[in-house]
Amino acid sequence: MQKLAAGNWKMNGTRAALAEVDALIRAHPAPGCEVLLAPPATLVAAMAERAEGSALRIGGQDCHAAASGAHTGDISAPMLRDAGASHVILGHSERRADHGETDAQIHAKVGAAWSAGLVAILCLGETEAERDAGRALEVVGAQLAASLPDGAGAENTVIAYEPVWAIGTGRTPSLAEIGEVHGFLRRALAERFGAQTAAAIRLLYGGSVKPSNAGEIFAVADVDGALVGGASLKAADFGAIVAALSAA
Ligand code: 13P
Repeated sequence: MQKLAAGNWKMNGTRAALAEVDALIRAHPAPGCEVLLAPPATLVAAMAERAEGSALRIGGQDCHAAASGAHTGDISAPMLRDAGASHVILGHSERRADHGETDAQIHAKVGAAWSAGLVAILCLGETEAERDAGRALEVVGAQLAASLPDGAGAENTVIAYEPVWAIGTGRTPSLAEIGEVHGFLRRALAERFGAQTAAAIRLLYGGSVKPSNAGEIFAVADVDGALVGGASLKAADFGAIVAALSAA
């Protein structure tokens, strides 16, 4: 399996930030893992043009469940594909919280991504209250069951475990806790899609990944890469994470 270092720029970056993309490509012309950046929608086409001919893949951060129509402000999966994206992040906790996205809506978006030929990066994660109540596995299991359609495989799906309380906080679960959730997700995928398919679907960890903790997180069983927010904005930091994953 090729591991994946994915960067989520969230609502950050204008064209001036494309210099970071050039620097990342220059520093890692042949990375030992798959590398992806998901910029804001306004930069997808420009970033895809900059990345052409390189190993860097480009993703969107959301898409609508429909291919086109009267949905002011939304972007469809075919549009992302047309702009040069190969992946799309779906079900991020910030979209669940800020836009009230439900598992059912995310389920429909994943299907739309697949129909457009995009790889869906499906995000799951418990809140701090849910973890404190001992419900982390139950919560991510329910999210996985309700938001991932039948037909998932390594070619169209990546799962990202992102505990809500670890995003942008500098706090992370213990390595044992990360391993517990990733092992649980692998088993849940195996029950539904078979062991062979489950073994090939990449499970990313996300939430306060940075150069200083990437190596130890990548050494955890069933961690096949990372979904990185803040530390993906600077080529030096994200490049160090790419290097750590390549070495893992
Ligand atoms: P941070 O790496 O900034 O904690 O964000 C993680 C995240 O939400 C990536 O999607």
